[in-house]
Amino acid sequence: PDAIMVSELANRMAERVADVVKSLMKMGMMVTQNQTLDQDTAELIVEEFGHRMVRVSDSDVEDVIHQTEDDPKDLKPRPPVITIMGHVDHGKTSLLDAIRKTKVVAGEAGGITQHIGAYQVTTDSGAVLSFLDTPGHAAFTSMRSRGAHVTDIVILVVAADDSVMPQTIEAINHAKAAKVPMIVAINKVDKPAANADKVRAELLQHEIVVEKMSGDVQDVEVSALTGQGLDELLESIAIQAEILELKANPDRAAEGAVIEAQLDVGRGPVATVLIQNGTLKQGDIFVVGEQYGKVRALVNDKGERVAEAGPSVPVEVLGLNGTPEAGDVLNVVATEAQAREIAEYRSNVSREKRAAVGAGTTLEQLMAKA
Ligand code: GTP
Ligand code: MG
Repeated sequence: PDAIMVSELANRMAERVADVVKSLMKMGMMVTQNQTLDQDTAELIVEEFGHRMVRVSDSDVEDVIHQTEDDPKDLKPRPPVITIMGHVDHGKTSLLDAIRKTKVVAGEAGGITQHIGAYQVTTDSGAVLSFLDTPGHAAFTSMRSRGAHVTDIVILVVAADDSVMPQTIEAINHAKAAKVPMIVAINKVDKPAANADKVRAELLQHEIVVEKMSGDVQDVEVSALTGQGLDELLESIAIQAEILELKANPDRAAEGAVIEAQLDVGRGPVATVLIQNGTLKQGDIFVVGEQYGKVRALVNDKGERVAEAGPSVPVEVLGLNGTPEAGDVLNVVATEAQAREIAEYRSNVSREKRAAVGAGTTLEQLMAKA
């Protein structure tokens, strides 16, 4: 579509429809919320509200980045966000666990990751790194397809006593598609059957040329069990992060991405949110996907209550009216009325979409029978 509905545009900017209509009136355009705008008009409005528009093609207004553009002078360095990916049992959780020097694996049912953990680690040299441990690539894909670009660096874990496996290849493809730099961690090198060079050769077949093979993808031999190579891995991450020059503006209304969310018996809906820009504070009013709320409490990765969370910090958010979905974007807004309006608008739209899909299916079934 080369046009966007006024109400849809407002929703994407997390602004009230009435304010957008008002703004259009000022520009001399009398429109209702159900009328469509051409891209150029949409872009003017987006800029008027201090947002930034992304065009997927010349004719498609694909997305409006919710956040206002930051003045470069307000940007400060932020920690890198690292996602650990790889085939089942290749040691993703163990590796993160070893890095954190705590025991996540021991606490997990069957040793299989049940959720996406998000943790911050400070290296010996003082660099702060934010890690995400994924339960599977489906979550990553769904987050990416919904526009949540949460990760800066992918650590591809491959077990040295095994091979490049289907989920290794998937992870490679995801990293490539997301244009995220990758560091290869060849794990389990303590095992007698370990053969790191075999892994490197196999990676070559997937166009991953590691440094040891004269390529430019960093590769590190590690053992989550013995701790071998971990410092080197952290150093590689720090080098990669420096190249990326990651920055954010901590002094603005927060924007973040939901890493996981669930309904907690005692605490109500709880979402783990990775703050991507700004600082989320207790008492902030926000909209997140089709839900909204007011921050009642923030809990960090060590289970401690904190008053605020800045860029690249993963934090549990309490005070939601419902449970959002992984990949949903959180935006702090000015008023509760605004938050409610946007959340309701979004849930109406998705209800309509579901209804349309349902009707479509029926029609198809009817046609198939005919
Ligand atoms: P999923 O979350 O199920 O995809 O697995 P994972 O990749 O997180 O693997 P996990 O960390 O649960 O490790 C799988 C098994 O490999 C466990 O039994 C670990 O103890 C073992 N393991 C992990 N890293 C190492 C290592 O460096 N050396 C040895 N010998 N065993 C390891
Ligand atoms: Mg795991």
